[in-house]
Amino acid sequence: MSQKPLGIGIIGGGFIARFHIKSWVGVRDADILGIFDPDAKRASEACALVKSLGVGEAKPYRSVTDMVADPAIDALWICAPNYTRVEVMEEIAQTVIKGKGTLRGIACEKPLGRNVAEAKRMLELARKAKLLDGYLENQVFSPAVVRGKEIVWARGAALAGPPYLARAAEEHSGPHMPWFWEGKLQGGGVLNDMMCHSVEEARFMLTPPGAPREVLTPVSITAYTNCLKWQEPHYAGILAKNSGGKTDYINRPAEDFARSLIEYRTDKGKLVIVETTTSWCYVGAGLRLSMELLGPEYSLQINTLDAGLKIFFSRQVKGKAGEDLVEKQNAEIGLMPVVADEATEYGYIAENRHMVRSFLKGTRPEENFSDGLNVTELLMAAYMSAEKGKTIPFPAPGLATYIPPVAKGTWNPKNK
Ligand SMILES: NC(=O)c1ccc[n+]([C@@H]2O[C@H](COP(=O)([O-])OP(=O)(O)OC[C@H]3O[C@@H](n4cnc5c(N)ncnc54)[C@H](O)[C@@H]3O)[C@@H](O)[C@H]2O)c1
Repeated sequence: MSQKPLGIGIIGGGFIARFHIKSWVGVRDADILGIFDPDAKRASEACALVKSLGVGEAKPYRSVTDMVADPAIDALWICAPNYTRVEVMEEIAQTVIKGKGTLRGIACEKPLGRNVAEAKRMLELARKAKLLDGYLENQVFSPAVVRGKEIVWARGAALAGPPYLARAAEEHSGPHMPWFWEGKLQGGGVLNDMMCHSVEEARFMLTPPGAPREVLTPVSITAYTNCLKWQEPHYAGILAKNSGGKTDYINRPAEDFARSLIEYRTDKGKLVIVETTTSWCYVGAGLRLSMELLGPEYSLQINTLDAGLKIFFSRQVKGKAGEDLVEKQNAEIGLMPVVADEATEYGYIAENRHMVRSFLKGTRPEENFSDGLNVTELLMAAYMSAEKGKTIPFPAPGLATYIPPVAKGTWNPKNK
C-alpha cells in the first residue's frame, strides 16, 4: 500500500529555504505544506514559490508551535538564522513532548550550533522528543562528490590503496545578509559559516564507501584565520552601510579567510589529511567550490565554476545585477560560467530525497545531528588552534565550553 506523501514544514523562508523549495521538483513522496517565518512577507513569498513550482499547497503558520501541532506536518526543515537555532529546536521539542502533532523528523541546516554546547543541545532535544534527525550538509550529496568518490574507491583505492589527502575549498565574495557578518549572531566568520561544508565533504571523501564515520578519528588540527579584505576602511564602510550602521568591521571584524589542516588516524592505523581553505574575499564569477582527493596512483578534482555552460555578453549588454547565472554572482558581462541546475549540482535534491526517504522509512538519516556535532567540534578546535597559534590535539581540553573570541566580539587581527 502506498503511503501518503510526507507533509513538510519549513522554518525560515529566506535564501536557503528558496534553494530547498526549488530542489523539491526532484523530490518524491513529500509535499511542502507550510512555512513559518516571523517576517510575514517572506513567508507568503516562500508559499507562493512552493505553489508556483507545484511542490505543495504551502500555507503560512503563525508560530513553530502551530506548525508542529498540525497533524498534516510530518517533518520540519530548520532554515532560520544560526542565532535562533536552539530556541527553535526547544519550541519544537517542547511541543512534541506535550503530545501535540505527529512529527517524525527534523532536518536542520548547517551549522547545527554556533558552538559545541549548542550543537550538543540540538542532539539532546531531538533525542528527548524521539525525533529522527537529519543534518543538512548538501555537499556530501552533490552528484560530482558522490559519483567521484564511488569511482575513486572502486577503481583507484581498490587496486592502488586508499586516498591519503582530501582538499576542499568554499569561496565567495561575502554573505548576502548582515547577520552572517556578526560573530555573535552567526557564531564566527567564514570558518564557522563555510568550513563546516569543507571539513565534512573532505572527511566523507576519505571514508570508504558505506563505512561509518568512526573509521576516521581526528588526531590534531592546525588552523589560521585573518581578515584580509573586509576590515579595510572602504569595505568596512560598505558593511556598515548595508546593515544600517550595525556591522563594525574596524573594531569588531570576523575572519574573512580561514584555513585548516586536520590529521585523522584510520582504523588501519594510517594518518590521512584534510586540508581546507575558505574565504569571503574571493571575487570571481561567483561561488567556487573546489575539491580534490589524492591517492597513490590517482587524483580527483571538482571546480563548480568549470561549468559546462558558459555564456558571453559583450560590453553593450548592460543588464541588471543578479544571481541568475551562479550563486553569489559578481558580474553580468564577459565570458560567464553558468551552473545550469544549482539545486542538483550543489546536492540539495539528493540531500532532500535522502531525508524524506529516511523519515518515511522511520530510519535515522545517514547525515544526522551526530555528524553536525562532530563538525562543530572540529570547527571549534580550529578556532582554538588559530587563537593559540599552534596545533591542537583532538579532542582538545575545554572544547565543550569553548566560545571563539570572534563569537564574543573580542577578535581583531589588527590588535595582534
Ligand atoms: N547549505 C548551505 O549551503 C547554506 C547556504 C545558506 C544558508 N545556510 C544556512 O541556512 C540558515 C538560513 O540562512 P539564509 O541564508 O536562508 O538566511 P536568510 O537571512 O536569507 O533567511 C533566514 C530567514 O529566517 C527568518 N527568521 C528569523 N528568525 C526566525 C525564527 N525565529 N524562526 C523562523 N524564521 C526566522 C528570517 O525572517 C529570514 O526570512 C543559516 O543557518 C545558514 O547557515 C546554508
